Amino acid sequence: MEKKWWHNKVAYQIYPKSFNDSNGDGIGDVRGIIQKLDYLKSLGVDIIWISPIYQSPMVDQGYDISDYYNIHPSFGTMEDMEELLREIKKRDMYLLMDLVINHCSDQHEWFQKAIEDLDSEYADYFYIKEGKDGNPPTNWRSYFGGSAWEKIGDTNKYYLHMFAKEQPDLNWENEKVRTELYKMVNWWLEKGIDGFRIDAIINIKKQLEFKNYEPDGIDQLSGLHKMLEEVDDVGEFLTELRDQTFKKYDAFTVAEVFNDKPGELEKFIGEDGYFSTIFDFTMEKARSGETWEKSPRLSGEEVKKLIFQAQKESESVGFRANIIENHDEPRGATVFLPEGKSTPEGIKMLGTISMLLKGIPFIYQGQEIGMTNVEFTDISEIDDISTKDQYQIMLEKGYTAKEALRIVNEKSRDNSRTPFQWNGEENAGFTTGTPWLKVNPNYVTVNVEKEEKEEDSILSYYKKLIKLRKTVELEDAFVYGRFQEAYESKENILAYYRIGDEHKVLVIANYQEEKQQIVIEDTVKQLLLSNYDRKDTSFDTIELNPYEVVVLEILN
Ligand code: GLC
Ligand code: CA
Repeated sequence: MEKKWWHNKVAYQIYPKSFNDSNGDGIGDVRGIIQKLDYLKSLGVDIIWISPIYQSPMVDQGYDISDYYNIHPSFGTMEDMEELLREIKKRDMYLLMDLVINHCSDQHEWFQKAIEDLDSEYADYFYIKEGKDGNPPTNWRSYFGGSAWEKIGDTNKYYLHMFAKEQPDLNWENEKVRTELYKMVNWWLEKGIDGFRIDAIINIKKQLEFKNYEPDGIDQLSGLHKMLEEVDDVGEFLTELRDQTFKKYDAFTVAEVFNDKPGELEKFIGEDGYFSTIFDFTMEKARSGETWEKSPRLSGEEVKKLIFQAQKESESVGFRANIIENHDEPRGATVFLPEGKSTPEGIKMLGTISMLLKGIPFIYQGQEIGMTNVEFTDISEIDDISTKDQYQIMLEKGYTAKEALRIVNEKSRDNSRTPFQWNGEENAGFTTGTPWLKVNPNYVTVNVEKEEKEEDSILSYYKKLIKLRKTVELEDAFVYGRFQEAYESKENILAYYRIGDEHKVLVIANYQEEKQQIVIEDTVKQLLLSNYDRKDTSFDTIELNPYEVVVLEILN
């Protein structure tokens, strides 16, 4: 396999609105990020992905872009952005922007011109179709709930939006649209950024017959996955996108791909794939269920099966991007551990499992200090558009407000969007003003300043973990090593080897409350890491504590 500059890197996602506010307006900003680069460097992070900071009406927190060439004023200016890039490079780090090109904002000039004149060339930048007998063109349900079509004024025409109605889908079948988008991507790459996280990209190709599918809900609508399953070949667009842009710059790309079809992984992340990597969402998918009400917590056994399957699928193909959470999910520390068990040990265990898998580890801001879900006591505390939509849908289905709020608390992506917890002072040191979203009251104990001083804090552990992951001598194992499951038959023991040409490592996690004895089948050279204070000198048998994880170097 050809080695790439990003293979041995650790990535970190910044949700800019909630990271650090430099001017007291309650909203995180680019200068706020610059102030914290040394923190990220000390953590061991290499690649920084920043969620969208472009000009936007912020209906979907910047995932609705009205101008791809400008920065939203509440995040700063283009000069701030350029300074950020210089400061990142100075520290030998890399910058990824978020690339949202399945749709834009309804405030984008293209869309404004399109609806102003439905015969103009801009109308063909979007999917605009005639309604049928007073109904939308098809029965597709948008991801955020409700029809995926919005009527245009008093015409019988509708435009397609797979997400919110303020996010019209761009018509990728139109070559002019593609050319415009590639131009913009290259403009950013010319500025010196190192790549992109690519939003919702699997949606760019539609099933062009625009037909109805079997309804799957009481709204008589049909989920978009059915339409996407029938899409002919999204690969044509993705190949063109890659060749016209990323490839020329050796850029790193990580794509958000939910609906890849079986056997297609090679095309996405193989040697000549469309992208450098794609996120592994298997855990998120399994947890999110069909509807909001059905979002099961996964057991250790289930998590193990999902992770192992994903690792094996990508083993000989390429690198997956491994996460336990992001800005679209509740906190991993909460939902991937049983209720009431989000202990520092459990949280460190989750981080270790994820970080040492084969692939590119991604940390979401706050994960490294153990940030958890927050309790929203009233729906008015929620800002997120999709949560509000889903809440409404639950009420319509007959849930009581109390019950719906309980589900929101478990599921809402605002859980992961609460302000970053820097210290124990007011508003967790995030802002001197009023934060745009409530601060998790646990900031008093869960915060950077406190954890930096404590040797056994989650933060200190993450630093050790990242350092271990990046140990140059162990690169053959941690970066390029084969993945192989271990002790599979032991219930709630999640264990795997990483096997390099010279080094071999064994990770064993006890994903449960009960202690476990493991007879080690290998010769242990040394203990590399544990989330408990372990003084053993012999490793023939290990008794693992609740949610303990050990990382052992073994004789290869
Ligand atoms: C992606 C983003 C999410 C956004 C959606 C629409 O899933 O991660 O935050 O709402 O795309 O752009
Ligand atoms: Ca600000």
